[in-house]
This record gives sequence, C-alpha cells and structure tokens, in this order.
Amino acid sequence: MTHRPEQAANSALLRAVGDALDGPVPREWQAAVTAVPRHHFLPHRVWLPDAQGTYEPCDLSTDHDRWFEAAYADVPVVTQVNDGQPPPDPTDVWPSSSASAPSMVVRMLRDLDVRPGMNVLEIGTGTGWNAALLAHRLGAGHVASVEVDPDVARKAWASLNAAGLDVEVVCGDGADGWPLRQPYDRILSTCSVRRVPWAWIEQTRPGGIILTPWDNPMLCWGLLKLTVEPGRALGRFSPHSAFMLMRGQRQDLRIYRDVFRDEHVPEESETVLSPHDITGDQWEARFALGLHVGDVWTAWDDERLWVATTDTRSWAAVDADGDHPTVRQYGPRRLWDEIEAAHRWWEEHGCPGPERFGLTVTEESQWAWLDRPSQVLPLRR
Ligand SMILES: C[S@@+](CC[C@H](N)C(=O)[O-])C[C@H]1O[C@@H](n2cnc3c(N)ncnc32)[C@H](O)[C@@H]1O
Repeated sequence: MTHRPEQAANSALLRAVGDALDGPVPREWQAAVTAVPRHHFLPHRVWLPDAQGTYEPCDLSTDHDRWFEAAYADVPVVTQVNDGQPPPDPTDVWPSSSASAPSMVVRMLRDLDVRPGMNVLEIGTGTGWNAALLAHRLGAGHVASVEVDPDVARKAWASLNAAGLDVEVVCGDGADGWPLRQPYDRILSTCSVRRVPWAWIEQTRPGGIILTPWDNPMLCWGLLKLTVEPGRALGRFSPHSAFMLMRGQRQDLRIYRDVFRDEHVPEESETVLSPHDITGDQWEARFALGLHVGDVWTAWDDERLWVATTDTRSWAAVDADGDHPTVRQYGPRRLWDEIEAAHRWWEEHGCPGPERFGLTVTEESQWAWLDRPSQVLPLRR
C-alpha cells in the first residue's frame, strides 16, 4: 500500500517505464511496482551523478527532495561505491552496487517470463527491490537471491524483511549459483558476465531460462537470454543495457602500467580502418567485434587508440588521424589485423546489431553465432 506523495511518484514512474518500454507495464508488474515502493529499498545515503561526471553523496536526512526524486526517476541509483571503502579522493568514485533503472528492471522481469509456481534465482541482490518484485509476484518460498557483498546483502535482507517478503538472501559468489534450492525455472542476473558460469546451467531445469547482462572488455551492452537444454544452453542477445561486471570477472587494466614496456619492438604498418569506426557511438560495430576478438579492450590516449588483450601479452596502437593511420602491433596476436578482418566481416554481413547474434554455452566453452547456431563467428577464440 503506498501513500501520497509516494502514490503520485509511483504512478509517474510507471508512466515513464511504460514510455521507455514502448507500451504499458504488464499488469502483474504494475501491481508489484505499486505494492513495493522503490524508496523503501534505498539506503539513506545514495550516490548521484555530479557535474564533473563522477558521483557525489546524497543523504536522505539533508537532501530529502533530491533523494526522493532519484528514488522515483527512471534512472539507476548508485547505492554503494568502491566496494564499500571510502573513496581515496572525490574523482576516484566508481559504483559497486546500485538499484537498476526501473525500466530495465521491468524489461528484464517481463523478458524472464515468470509464471506462478516457478522458482527463481537472482544473482546480485543489490537493494533487494528486484527480488521484492519477484517475491510479490511469485509468493513465499519461490525466490532466492545471491549477493557477494556482505553489507549489501544484510541491508537487502533487512528491507525485504521489513516489507514482509519472503526471499532467501544468500551472501556468496553468484558464479556458484545457489545449489541448495535447485533446480530453478529461471535465473536472473543483475550483474554482467563475460563468461556464463556453468553452475547456472547445471542448476536450471531443461527448458528453463537464464537472463543476464552481457559484458565484453570492448563493450558492456546487451542482454543475453539463454534456454537450457541437456548439456548446453543457447540463446540470443538484445541491445541496450549496461550493468556492473560480476566481481570475480572484474579486471583493473591500464595501458601503460600493464601493457606497454620500453623493450617492446612493435611491427609497423598502415590501416584503412579508422579507429573512430570502432569507438564512440559505434555500438553495434563494437558489440560484433567484441564477440569476434574475445578478451580485447581499447583505450584512447591523446593521439592514438590502444588495443590490448586482457592477458596483456598482445597490443596494438593506431594513430587517431590520417587517411592511412599508422599501426604498431606487438605480441603473439596481431590485434589490429584481427579487428580489421572482423570489421570487414561485419560490413559484409550487413552490419548486424546485437539481436542477430547468439551464444552457445557448454561446460567447456562458449561461442557466438550469427542468425542461427550453425553460423559460428570466424576468428573465435
Ligand atoms: C546492479 S546491482 C543489483 C541490482 C539489484 N538487483 C536491485 O534490485 O537493486 C549488481 C549487484 O551485483 C552484485 N554482485 C557483483 N558481483 C557479484 C557476484 N559475484 N555474486 C553475487 N553478487 C554480485 C553487486 O555487489 C551489486 O550489488
């Protein structure tokens, strides 16, 4: 039961979510969002974007209106930074837990296609709001949620408890799933993954669905919806989503510190592919390239684009400008040659967006395909 002004704020939020989803919020999720007020799940201190492009604290006690407005806007709200440690300085603040944007939450719940009686495992409890919506819909004893951060898990448990919702909150690494309640009909991850943990597939019944945000070092942008079959899972991507990467798959890499060494002698050549064609707003190209080249990331310095493998053994540097920019490549892989070839393949296949790609996951491996599972991407690693 919500009360004014929550009621008005909640109705406005539902309208905003409907606009973002291009259609009204499904009735069952409308009922859940109305019954489970989002602000009850936010901590008294949240972190909101500031003018410098970083985050600043916003406290309920001193800035009630801004805090409340954030709670009912269709935006993600950062609820923990720097893994709960005090930021070393105000410019080094990065989100480590958040309440996802409501339209993303509802979109994922809608795509998850849950029905009464199903058992659902959520990975990444965060504030507990998502788990609360699921528990409202599915009832007691049908939802478990795993959160890696003990402080975040404890707060989510308290909020769920205060709301009278029965969710089993587990503090642990979501990569292991939660075997005690398997099999699940659905697994919903709210942190992104670069590799789908096999435990999720093992713990989902055949025909069940796993929905997870996808991350590639080149671009975090897409949802992956897998259907589980005996011995494997496969499914397609859809675009537009960016979630924090699962702890355990995170890497803190920097070009000069970790990659470049004075003694490296790179091979020099020229390219016809501008580095601008694979950076900035070129989301679809980057998504496809990421699937092709695997564990490869990019970073600009003032004059060139750097590309490196996450094991830091191979790198390439491409001048930003010129008709035939100079390329320098070093290490066992010729990364720019791979990127050029993958970009050519992408153009030859009609510049496909994420929705034309899919992924197959087995216990040993995972690989991407275009349009149908038999059309496996070349240059797969
Ligand atoms: C975007 S937030 C979750 C949003 C949440 N579902 C909600 O409704 O507020 C992602 C969460 O995933 C958690 N997380 C990151 N890595 C994890 C892991 N390996 N296992 C479980 N949780 C993890 C983070 O601590 C963070 O709280």
